[in-house]
Amino acid sequence: MNKKALPILCCLFFTLHTMAQQPFDTSSAISNLISQMTLQEKVNMIHASSSFTSGAVPRLGIPEFTSSDGPHGVRPEHGRGWDLTNNTADSGTYLPTGVCLAATWNPQLGVEYGKVLGSEAKYRHKNVILGPGINIIRTPLNGRNFEYQSEDPFLVSKMAVGYIKGVQSQGVSACVKHFAANNQEINRHTINVLMSERALREIYLPGFKAAVQEAGVNTIMASYNKFRGEWASQNNYLLNQVLKKEWNFKGVVISDWDAVTSTSEALWNGLDIEMGTDLHMLPNPDYSKFYLGDTVISLVKSGKIPEYLINDKVRRILYVMFKTNMINGTTDKGEYNTKEHQLTALKVAEEGIVLLKNQHNILPLNAKKIKSIAVIGLNANRKQSMGGGSSQVRAFYEITPLEGLQSIAGNKVKINYAQGYEIKRNAIANQSLIEEAVKAAKNSDVAIIVGGWTHGYDYNNWKDNAYDAEDVDKPNMDMPFGQNELIKAVVKANPKTIVVLMGGGPIDMTQWIDETASVIQNWYAGMEGGTALAKIIFGEVNPSGKLPMSFPKKLEDNPSYVLGEYPGDGNNVHYYDDIYVGYRYYDTYKVEPQFAFGHGLSYSNFEYSNLQLSSEGNNAKATFTIKNTSKIAGAEIAELYIHQEKSLLPRPLKELKGFEKVNLQPGEQKTISIPLNQNSFQYFNDVKNEWEMEPGVFDILIGSSSRDIKLNGKIKM
Ligand code: GLC
Repeated sequence: MNKKALPILCCLFFTLHTMAQQPFDTSSAISNLISQMTLQEKVNMIHASSSFTSGAVPRLGIPEFTSSDGPHGVRPEHGRGWDLTNNTADSGTYLPTGVCLAATWNPQLGVEYGKVLGSEAKYRHKNVILGPGINIIRTPLNGRNFEYQSEDPFLVSKMAVGYIKGVQSQGVSACVKHFAANNQEINRHTINVLMSERALREIYLPGFKAAVQEAGVNTIMASYNKFRGEWASQNNYLLNQVLKKEWNFKGVVISDWDAVTSTSEALWNGLDIEMGTDLHMLPNPDYSKFYLGDTVISLVKSGKIPEYLINDKVRRILYVMFKTNMINGTTDKGEYNTKEHQLTALKVAEEGIVLLKNQHNILPLNAKKIKSIAVIGLNANRKQSMGGGSSQVRAFYEITPLEGLQSIAGNKVKINYAQGYEIKRNAIANQSLIEEAVKAAKNSDVAIIVGGWTHGYDYNNWKDNAYDAEDVDKPNMDMPFGQNELIKAVVKANPKTIVVLMGGGPIDMTQWIDETASVIQNWYAGMEGGTALAKIIFGEVNPSGKLPMSFPKKLEDNPSYVLGEYPGDGNNVHYYDDIYVGYRYYDTYKVEPQFAFGHGLSYSNFEYSNLQLSSEGNNAKATFTIKNTSKIAGAEIAELYIHQEKSLLPRPLKELKGFEKVNLQPGEQKTISIPLNQNSFQYFNDVKNEWEMEPGVFDILIGSSSRDIKLNGKIKM
């Protein structure tokens, strides 16, 4: 047969099968292609061919595998030398970052979020979007918490599955990252993470397992760090044993960029594509010199490496290519910066922003009753989208908090802006800026301070003065740039002060929280963040977001400090905090957080009643009623926690095993049913090295947060 004819015949065969609605035999098509490939062509596919592509086989109609960051928007184009191009067509929808999405507790919204990413990735000719980032939030200091989701594996699992299904519904692959135990940025390229099998299985792996087994994620990015002494991108236990054997993962393992250190370890231990090693070769990278480059050819030819190893990697890549119609072609070209995408960004921000405190119901503001607002703080008037590192997005536009408030105020309410503080290295309180802010606050009915953490200015300076950024961890939880002094002075000048915090996680509020009437956690809420914040402040949107992580009062309360090690000794970090991450620690060890996991206020009030519990075998069901007793329509997230009364091994005081978000009109009530199964009750017994469901009595706790339990009952399993 004429070899040139094969790819055409493959496509024709696929088309005919599709038309005849017969299942296309991908496996045979893949085997056919592999049998046609030279060793060189196979090796070209298992390492990078540029900063964000891996090798094609044009002769056989196999395209390059093209990826792009990042978890909350399609990243600007890079040249082959990694420099940002001046491509004006690479702006995109800047979605709220991962932690804001998680704060919505709305997996269906995660699907919509993923659809935007997948559609825009396809429009930009990307086959893989390098997200979601789902590493567990173990310490408040991790610079990348803003990109991630939660301290709780159940919430991470539900939100990651939605996101991935959304992306892949567009014919683009998601790439869940960073596998595994990449929970700090300090020494991320060198640190060796050590933890019990129980902590690994109960806390750090569930999100990835759900991504594989529930969402069918096509690719996974292995992380930089070592895990139990072996680099995660060349880790036999994580990649071969757990991921590919136990979880039956059929897709592709991609290294983090420049994470590979050994040809044989990468080949034998489950890595499928080596990316980013060219970072050492700039400005003229030679991709054949990668660890999985031409070295592999000589190893195979000399018999030191069996060719089946290479074939398996190529098979996986082709499997994903067929699954996303990369080889057989697809008509849909994706969409870009559509109104619908921007509305999704707005909706995620509206549902993800969290109202933490609202004393005397100072919020929502009534535009008819106030004439002026002092908007204070550099974060009110600063674009964030290009900061943070690899997750940067050249936003099509970005509405800042100041712009959002100016827009909603219109000519009805006067906005007095004052910068309040300056962002520069080791900046302390700037008295003249504070005086200016105090004056604005005194001369206004209400003051809104927008502060908190920061990204760097832009990609080229992403670490400058950055507290939320890749390759950076925060030095502590202290408010930077003299913001504490600013807040205290403004609150003293005007008791009607609302503090809005931007950032990826908690900040030390102890110096002013008691005197401050209202606090909002704004995260990095994306291109429509300012609009969403303004709508919440003026009551056009009723807030419903809840914290996906605990906010400790001070860093020293955090379990990675109290029980565990962080950041480790530079070589090893021991997760002695084990399964006691976040609220699992605070509640079990009775440490009061500033704001609890799952906490978030609404302008509505909700009444919980009538908990009914039933069980059949290893399954159970919790049914209860929620009523909106206020005059304002709103959404409530009901959270279900379990507690095992007696267990062979110790268990946390409570563990999240279900949640439901419900929209209720004034006076409306709904009955909620949350199903439970064996996974809800079992724990990993790492003495026996297996999951175990011990018979006994379980407490079922229904709460508005992990610490605001409304209903509880007992069930015998
Ligand atoms: C980075 C990040 C990873 C990103 C990759 C490509 O170092 O760790 O999240 O996707 O490189 O930019």
